[in-house]
Amino acid sequence: MSTDESRRSFLLQAGLVAGGAALAALPAARMAAQNPNENCAPPGTQPTPTPFTPDNSLPLRVRKSAFALTKAEQDRLVAAYTALRALPDDDPRGWLPQAHVHCWYCSGSQNFPSNVEIHGSWTFMPWHRCYLYFHERILASLIGDDTFALPYWEWEVTSNPTFPPIYAVIGSSLYDKMRKATPATTPDITQMFAYNGINVQKRLREKSKSLFLGNSSSGGNIEFGPHGDVHLWTTDPSLDVSQSEPDMGILQTAARDPVFFAHHGNIDRLWWSWNGEGNENYDDSGWLSTSWTFYDQNKNWISMSINDVLEMEQNLHYTYDKSAVQSPSSRVFLSSSNTAAVKQGPEPTTTQIPVPETAQAAIAETVPTKTYILHIDGVDVPPHKAAMVRVFVNLPEASPATPASSPNFVGTFTIVPSVLDGRTAHQHKKRNILLDLTPQIGSILRGQSTISVTLVPVSRLTQRHENIELTYERVYITVE
Ligand code: C2O
Repeated sequence: MSTDESRRSFLLQAGLVAGGAALAALPAARMAAQNPNENCAPPGTQPTPTPFTPDNSLPLRVRKSAFALTKAEQDRLVAAYTALRALPDDDPRGWLPQAHVHCWYCSGSQNFPSNVEIHGSWTFMPWHRCYLYFHERILASLIGDDTFALPYWEWEVTSNPTFPPIYAVIGSSLYDKMRKATPATTPDITQMFAYNGINVQKRLREKSKSLFLGNSSSGGNIEFGPHGDVHLWTTDPSLDVSQSEPDMGILQTAARDPVFFAHHGNIDRLWWSWNGEGNENYDDSGWLSTSWTFYDQNKNWISMSINDVLEMEQNLHYTYDKSAVQSPSSRVFLSSSNTAAVKQGPEPTTTQIPVPETAQAAIAETVPTKTYILHIDGVDVPPHKAAMVRVFVNLPEASPATPASSPNFVGTFTIVPSVLDGRTAHQHKKRNILLDLTPQIGSILRGQSTISVTLVPVSRLTQRHENIELTYERVYITVE
């Protein structure tokens, strides 16, 4: 091949990875800054690899959310990366050689081994598990602490700040100046996922191996979904995909950003969580025996197969503190489409919850075994006011005279004032209300295409409208 041909073939190879939300090859304008034919090969010459054997002297390490590290764990992480960055570039455990491992296996270098591309197929999940294992062991040995575990960037949890603050401290060993995302960035990851229709909980409920893990020729819905989006967002939160930029935005350079390893910790955790829901991995022998070579913490050249990494706790001696799968109680089954808060005066107010046909079928099937909970979130009453509110379903004409014995009556919630009139509350909190909807689901709501929820303010036992001040935000139903 002429130089031009091999360059073209490199670009084609790299371009193959660029489907969907995958990462781009280097755009021409960036070629000058980043060498597309970068030599990412491990330093020196490699001996015949030694097959991996589990180190049973290791304690079980527990990977935690980067948002939940104690001060001591944060310091330990910073110290480990400081030690890694201090190693020289000809040490295979060093900072750049570690980043080059990723480049070498992802057609990011001109000399990647026998055209191995670990992205875009069912090798994506296991290869990154191997890579993180060795990276974590190297960091642990540099600080002499076998209990060291990498954190994971828990981006699927919408209540978290969007970017882990510990990685954003300018000048720290976890910082990368090529990255634009910060904990204050908008749009944040939740908004980005919403824009792209990415529902991680739904993807975790995927039953198809191909759709979740990918198969021999195609990438799965985690790789070409949230995985790619988080890479691009980290580099440039405007998601200008015509301008892919290093580090995180390009596979060749992605692992130069320490947050890469926390991002892939979360990807690995999603895989573990998916297995935890009873989803089996492939048993294809070709897949199981696929192996790659890495330098370990003692600079030994080790080959590790997919079969070696499927029993994470037993063979690799690490686990995660919690599953990414949210408990059924926090899963919304049906929700109103209200966007603005409802202002509740003395008159009853009604909110509609549409029930699609699939949900109607689910209701018909699951009534005997499940509990349906009606949620009214963000209930706000002035701190010096009380409120007593009755809740009815599919009875929009309900009034203070409608008795609690009505089959449509779900319950009453009562809010006690926090402070005397004229004082300000220190911390005024909105309330979230839960009411048991199971009896109505099993009777009057069966087969209905809409559930209406009517709030009727009442006062004492006088059956009259009460002039309460109250707003509420979100009305929805979950199943436990
Ligand atoms: Cu190997 Cu997130 O890419």
